[in-house]
Amino acid sequence: MAATKVERIAVIGAGTMGNGIAQVSATSGFQTTLIDISADALERARENIRQSVEKLHSKGKLDDAARRNALEGMLSGTDLALAAEADLIIEAATENKPLKLKLFAQLDALAKPNALIASNTSSISITALAAATKRPSQVIGMHFMNPVPIMPLVELIRGLDTSTETVATALEVCRAMGKTVFEANDSPGFIANRILMPMINEAIFCLMEGVGTAEAIDGVMKLGMNHPMGPLALADFIGLDVCLAILEVLHSELGEDKYRPCPLLRKMVAAGHHGRKTGRGFYTYHTEGKG
Ligand code: CAA
Repeated sequence: MAATKVERIAVIGAGTMGNGIAQVSATSGFQTTLIDISADALERARENIRQSVEKLHSKGKLDDAARRNALEGMLSGTDLALAAEADLIIEAATENKPLKLKLFAQLDALAKPNALIASNTSSISITALAAATKRPSQVIGMHFMNPVPIMPLVELIRGLDTSTETVATALEVCRAMGKTVFEANDSPGFIANRILMPMINEAIFCLMEGVGTAEAIDGVMKLGMNHPMGPLALADFIGLDVCLAILEVLHSELGEDKYRPCPLLRKMVAAGHHGRKTGRGFYTYHTEGKG
């Protein structure tokens, strides 16, 4: 099949990652459609995108055309069929394997034959998602980092059957979005979360065991290791439910005790304290940022 030329991108899921990816896609000149089953989530996503784009525009980091593309040119809607015209579909739905498998089968049935389907999953097997479609060679992992408009990295993950053409096209799209790419093989957590999540988990064990306060643990990592955020603040930023879901995948698929999610993390997720997005995690949040 001829190499796919990407002009239209559909992003599935209007959460933090989906709206960030849609924003960068639109400001980079791709005709972008953001799709979510919730009209409220789309409304919130549009407002987040507006705020982020205005901020970057006022700082001179986005020109007028990029601003217009995101604020006026981007489409959104609740019907998955809106993805039918896309050359590249980027799935950024909740980190839940059965849900993603179902979504991949649905997207495969409605997408153009030469369209590529990517997942922004942080830990689920790209090979498994590809196997839910009849186009496994056109399925790839494109793992963006939060906040997507600011973070320069995309981790590209090749599934067992991902073709070299698909990798080349995804690479070209990432570069057009101004991102730097590193490739990872399809292994649980890939590179980013294989390394990041055990660090966050260990920080939570340190808190649970009273090795230090949250401020001390984060302070040591910020001032001692030059991390922009301490691991507990970062966990709140990512979402404690997301951290737990990723650790569960690492633990069950790699089968080693070192990935066992900290009981305090489980307890906080069970209590509904999911970090910034719920206003409470290791810190409390009144608006944006630490309270
Ligand atoms: N859009 C536009 N501007 C944004 C923005 C966004 N989405 N997010 C932050 N900014 C801007 C802020 O407005 C601020 O601008 P001013 O300096 O003009 O006020 C600037 O970026 C810096 O932000 P802050 O002052 O709030 O704080 P900061 O200097 O600590 O930077 C940060 C914020 C970029 C998030 C930084 O703390 C950081 O890099 N943290 C680590 C992030 C990280 O590790 N991300 C990866 C998480 S893992 C992941 O995403 C993958 C996974 O699978 C779990």
